[in-house]
Amino acid sequence: MITRKLFVTTALPYANAPFHLGHIMEYIQADIWVRHQRMAGHEVHFVCADDAHGAPIMIAAEKAGITPQEFVAQIAAGRKQYLDGFHIEFNNWHSTDGPENHALSQDIYRKLKAAGFITSKTIEQFYDPVKNMFLPDRYIKGECPKCGAKDQYGDSCEVCSAVYAPTEVKNPYSVLTGATPIMKSSEHFFFKLSDQKCVDFLRTWALQDKRLQSEVANKCKEWLEGEGGLGDWDISRDAPYFGIEIPDQPGKYFYVWLDAPVGYLASLKNYFGKIGQDFDAFMQDPSTEQIHFIGKDITYFHTLFWPAMLKFSGYKTPDNVYAHGFVTVSGEKMSKSRGTGISPLRYLDIGMNPEWLRYYFAAKLNAKVEDLDMNPEDFVARVNSDLIGKYINIASRASGFISKRFDGVVNTAWATSDDPFITKLRNASAEIQALYEAREFGKALRAVMEQADIINAYVDANKPWELAKQAENDAKLQEVCSRLLEAFRILTIFLKPVLPHLASQVEAQFNIPAMNWSDVDTPLPHLHKIKPYVHLMQRVDGSIFDQLFDAPAPQNAPVESDTQQIEELAPEIKIDDFAKIDLRIAKIVHCEHVEGSDKLLRLTLDVGEGKTRNVFSGIKSAYQPEQLIGKFTVMVANLAPRKMKFGMSEGMVLAASAANEKSNPGLYILEAWPGAEPGMRVR
Ligand code: 2FM
Ligand code: ZN
Repeated sequence: MITRKLFVTTALPYANAPFHLGHIMEYIQADIWVRHQRMAGHEVHFVCADDAHGAPIMIAAEKAGITPQEFVAQIAAGRKQYLDGFHIEFNNWHSTDGPENHALSQDIYRKLKAAGFITSKTIEQFYDPVKNMFLPDRYIKGECPKCGAKDQYGDSCEVCSAVYAPTEVKNPYSVLTGATPIMKSSEHFFFKLSDQKCVDFLRTWALQDKRLQSEVANKCKEWLEGEGGLGDWDISRDAPYFGIEIPDQPGKYFYVWLDAPVGYLASLKNYFGKIGQDFDAFMQDPSTEQIHFIGKDITYFHTLFWPAMLKFSGYKTPDNVYAHGFVTVSGEKMSKSRGTGISPLRYLDIGMNPEWLRYYFAAKLNAKVEDLDMNPEDFVARVNSDLIGKYINIASRASGFISKRFDGVVNTAWATSDDPFITKLRNASAEIQALYEAREFGKALRAVMEQADIINAYVDANKPWELAKQAENDAKLQEVCSRLLEAFRILTIFLKPVLPHLASQVEAQFNIPAMNWSDVDTPLPHLHKIKPYVHLMQRVDGSIFDQLFDAPAPQNAPVESDTQQIEELAPEIKIDDFAKIDLRIAKIVHCEHVEGSDKLLRLTLDVGEGKTRNVFSGIKSAYQPEQLIGKFTVMVANLAPRKMKFGMSEGMVLAASAANEKSNPGLYILEAWPGAEPGMRVR
């Protein structure tokens, strides 16, 4: 057998949030494939890392009052419980902010530059004059140039789906400070994707070599051959930016998407450093295969930018990129507010078996770029009828008799190489392995369950429970049960890439070493003694799903009006009394925490007066400052200014709260309907 040398990765998750179910699905898919390769005896290095850089992480860290490095370290510290919990066995988990990535990214850049693939030009971009930084498109909001909808992102409109340049947005404002952005020019560096050499290379790599999934190759064809072809890629960002410095260009950093995939190499290099293996030799070996598992949304980066960067800097190019679809829940995108979000940690916390999920995902995965729908009824059916009903039951039906009647001794005298029953099972192995290799996990599991059906038919035909009734059938009973246990052992090998933990329990119970593909043909030794049977896996109780789904967000919950006590009405007033209060529409142009106060937020309000007002509001418990910036609310504009510990408060914003804080501790700031403008009176 030729031993393959495999370098396998999954996409590097941004280090600004814990894993969601989509991450876990991708890791399980890759982990199954990797375990299959390991069982075939191949050399596999399976690595990942946190994708640490970029403006969102820098800004999130600033808000949290810590350095980006500390922020990333906190997120990274939470990773292990998920990976261990779902039996995902990476060889290494690193960070794109590690020294290897700094060195490798800069090396790749230098080589691209020397080969003539880097150019620079001065471009104009929106700049936040308060924050003193260039604004990524997502940090600009304003009115949609097409339909006029307010508060739309700088690159696309969620109301009419128009896509546009941030410069087209009307009345733009910075999401960070509320300030009106100004245009500012700066020198940017570009990777020359439009270079004919690059286009020719990508045509061969992505289209002619037939390596990619057909859906992905078709996309690449559109990108490569569509109108205008490939444009040059802007790979630089100006300080302040959390990233890797561009050599010899002070104040310029690599755009996060340049150094992120280099993180694959960096994690491998870091790992090889730990195990004392030569990174350069491995990467230069023509037999090394480099494979990336990714989600469909990031194919552009992985099938165009990444191979081209590697090619023209003289590094090895990827052998393949396998894209998968998104996870949906009962046909819908996961959403906290609709109560269809599933937290992987919660899944583990409520005691759901991680291998149920591995099995379920595997049963639904194929080699195409299709979305995977998770549906509770379907989940329960697959786990209970297939996994438990067809597979686990074989062991529970046979092991009891072997333990109780034969002191745990398996008799495999019949297990000659031409035993038809077992031979049939062994012969299924090649096809099942080929299906794992092709990432057709659903088909692989169907093939395994077909074998399980044959074995269960054997149980029904031989009825061990009937044989057990008469002592003269003992020899036959031991043979039937021993055959069933051997069959169960082989099925366990077939399922081992998907159910590694269960397989190790079976190995322990059977008193045998860890099994690989080659062990399909090596039966349990004759007169081998197994340990007493302990139940291997429970059925799923469908009602557990009630605990799994996130509770829908409170605004969707029915109002239990009969149980709610509203605050007593204030004494009656005349219309003139009301007219004394001057209520105005105010735009929250800025909002921030107040140092030293655990109740207050400082709001900067535009009430249409040509200057802003400073208002302190006790709503810190209910809102993050960035949620409020850009919103229109109602304020009491003629309230006498009040001197507070933290400064003058020039008015008051209105917010609703329940009389009984226990029934609803929330605070709800009033928001004006679209069309209301700062300074309008509310009457
Ligand atoms: O889309 C994402 O979540 C990115 N962090 C993926 C990066 S993959 C690789 F390039 F690092
Ligand atoms: Zn629009």
